[in-house]
Amino acid sequence: MRDHTKLLAELSEEYRRYAPKSAALHERARAHIVDGMSHARRAVTPFPPRLVRAKGAWVEDEDGHRILDFWQGHYANILGHNADVIVSAVVQALEGSRGLQTGFEDRVHVEAAEILCRQTGAERVRFTTSGALATMYSILLARAYTGRDLVLKVGGGWHGAQPWGLKGVSFNSRSRYDHMETDGFPDIIDRDTIVSRFNDPQHLRDTFAKHGDRIACFILEPFVGAGGFIPATREYLREARALTEHYGSVLIFDEVISGFRFRAGDLGALYGVRPDLAAFGKIVGGGMPVAAVAGRADILNLAGAEGGNRVRFTGGTYSAHPASMVAAKVVMEYLVANEASIYPRLADLGEKTRRAMEQAFAEEGILARTTGDPRGAFGGSSLGMLHFPYDETLELTSPDDVYDPQKCDVALRDRVIQTALLLEDVHVVHGLGAVSTAHTEAEVEFLREACRRVARRIRRYL
Ligand SMILES: Cc1ncc(COP(=O)(O)O)c(C=O)c1O
Repeated sequence: MRDHTKLLAELSEEYRRYAPKSAALHERARAHIVDGMSHARRAVTPFPPRLVRAKGAWVEDEDGHRILDFWQGHYANILGHNADVIVSAVVQALEGSRGLQTGFEDRVHVEAAEILCRQTGAERVRFTTSGALATMYSILLARAYTGRDLVLKVGGGWHGAQPWGLKGVSFNSRSRYDHMETDGFPDIIDRDTIVSRFNDPQHLRDTFAKHGDRIACFILEPFVGAGGFIPATREYLREARALTEHYGSVLIFDEVISGFRFRAGDLGALYGVRPDLAAFGKIVGGGMPVAAVAGRADILNLAGAEGGNRVRFTGGTYSAHPASMVAAKVVMEYLVANEASIYPRLADLGEKTRRAMEQAFAEEGILARTTGDPRGAFGGSSLGMLHFPYDETLELTSPDDVYDPQKCDVALRDRVIQTALLLEDVHVVHGLGAVSTAHTEAEVEFLREACRRVARRIRRYL
């Protein structure tokens, strides 16, 4: 394993000089906000740029830098930052006195639900405000529906900060993924959550053979997000469907990243696999706090009168918030109307972006590989993650491939490259991120040049 302490210290020092206003605001923030921010993924070494505006593919910070952004609101902004079509609808709603929370129901909520159900094949939907809540409620529904305890997930899968989601997220060489990520929960959560290896159908078969009659649900992302931007193989997803059906477990797809990312609807459809429940978030909210659980009526109805109100998926002061529903409806409508042009273009640009990064590092003799390509499982992809494997023959098919520090230089990807690229006015997360409809080939070339300079700079440290 390489030690990047000296390089990171040099970059941090330079960044402090480069962004003094963000530096000062970070110090101020730390006086009241834990670590100076409210989401760990927004952390940057030595501090994040503080924004004053964001439009399209670019953001602008307090120090006057225009930064090319591939984070795009935690991958929510598929139309780029503050897209006109969404902003104007939300402004209109606010100006028309129908934007802030009222505590009543309205027409837009109905229309957004209709689009989501139609595009995902779901019979029922209920909205909430975060992906974590959507996955948590999905699991509650599954446990109530089956009357079973065990929750099966994949190592490296991130389902948000909720009890069952907080096991087996980060790789650790001792326990791999068999550990809780947080203190504070009762031991029973640890015991009831079992972790299997992504894209390993045999391991899945073995796990079901051992615990199948106790497994309430299997929750997974058909395209692993934070765990490495790795697509499920068709064989694996079909096996997941067959096994859950055979053992009477609920299959939950976490489509918080993948929903409306690859087509105007769920990704499951591109695999020809329909889950029992699916969690949505990010893109479907158009940049507003919207998430949803969608799927089979007989399961979702457990949260309502028809199902005896057995699952308290009922609260949420800001659930189906009026302006949020306007954004959700508008973004989904827009993606549906422009599906045929948007997704092929995004896929093409995603491919060019991944190749540009790999090539820029290769030119300086640095082995870099990207994930994000669907590897034949379905069409193209607008997502990308950059990795620095120690062995060029390494196959990147599971989260531990890209998070095991013995296999890939994880710190180089997650910390060094991020700070080095910020000094070139580019913002990436896990080495890259997502392209939006606001990105063009000019942005890809800007990134390529930035990576070339970074590669030249860091080469002598590796
Ligand atoms: C796949 C997946 N599921 C769930 C979540 C949690 O969503 P939220 O951050 O809105 O709670 C995330 C967030 O990144 C995610 O990527």
